[in-house]
Amino acid sequence: MELAPDDVEWVTCDSPVNIALIKYWGKRDEKLILPLNSSVSVTLNQEELRARTTVAVSRNFKEDKMWLNGREQSMKNARLQSVISQIKRLCRKRKIDGDQPNEKLQWKLHICSENNFPTAAGLASSAAGYACLVYALSKLYGVEGDISKIARLGSGSACRSIHGGFVIWNKGDAEDGEDSSTEQIAPETHWPELRVLILVVSDQTKHTASTVGMQTSVETSDLLHQRLQGVPKRIERIKKAILRKDFHSFAEITMKDSNQLHAVCLDTYPPISYLTDTSHHIMQLVHAINQDNSSNMVAYSFDAGPNAFLFMQEKDVPTVLDILHYFYPNSDPHFIRGIHVPGKHDTHVDYT
Ligand code: DP6
Repeated sequence: MELAPDDVEWVTCDSPVNIALIKYWGKRDEKLILPLNSSVSVTLNQEELRARTTVAVSRNFKEDKMWLNGREQSMKNARLQSVISQIKRLCRKRKIDGDQPNEKLQWKLHICSENNFPTAAGLASSAAGYACLVYALSKLYGVEGDISKIARLGSGSACRSIHGGFVIWNKGDAEDGEDSSTEQIAPETHWPELRVLILVVSDQTKHTASTVGMQTSVETSDLLHQRLQGVPKRIERIKKAILRKDFHSFAEITMKDSNQLHAVCLDTYPPISYLTDTSHHIMQLVHAINQDNSSNMVAYSFDAGPNAFLFMQEKDVPTVLDILHYFYPNSDPHFIRGIHVPGKHDTHVDYT
């Protein structure tokens, strides 16, 4: 059946990726997605790396459907269902509080999502994807309030992408997760000289998904449990470095935490190794650059994949680019992706 545009109500949103500076790795509750440790991230500018999601409802749709990067996906996904049902619950709650009943809640839903960068390659695609879906759904159903807790149910790291700038996800202690929430440490305008270069070492889907990887680490890695003791201090230190725009300390803490995540992965049994020879070469290169300078010029961070996020200040971008082009002269033209400044969740693109 052909649908006239008037039969469909839809919203399209964009959401940016966030890069963890202090990593989230390990849950204390798999269903509520509650982390074992607090984490800190920076949300990137969404022009280069973003998820775009359209959500549409119509009284004429016959069933719920979803497409990711042009391919139809099953709706039988527990996390997806949990996100949709929580948004609808908040919408119903508003109605009880006095608003008009929202008939859209009964209509079938279509979701169409695409990333403008490789999906599931350790580039935080699920974070941007779920943040985008939750934001779009909240607009479609007219839901207000703290939606980052709902984004968390899609993918833990997604709750940090709801905010711009520098963000902390406090782990909380409550069993029901009520106090596990996100908060902005500083807005995207706070440190405009900060830049991020992304080196796409591989755009292949990662061999071990973060969810499974961190589960195995919790079960088998002693180092993970030792790491948990040190995270609160590290978070205090990086917050200070961010607020003072102290790049030298920011770089050191960021690199140490990335290294610790990958040490925990190797300590996991069987071991998980996300980094490749090229990732290790990039790390060595960064330390060589920093050794030649009185204070740190560049920092790396790697999530659950071999791709590098390089942080630096604007004044040092030309030097770092020259060095990268010298050491990787024949790399793919997409090896270096954009220069991303801290950004924010600008989300709203289009509406009916
Ligand atoms: C290495 O948020 O993808 O990127 O909550 O199981 O969906 P789930 O995991 P996910 O894990 C992200 C892990 C990380 C570190 C981080 O972003 O903090």
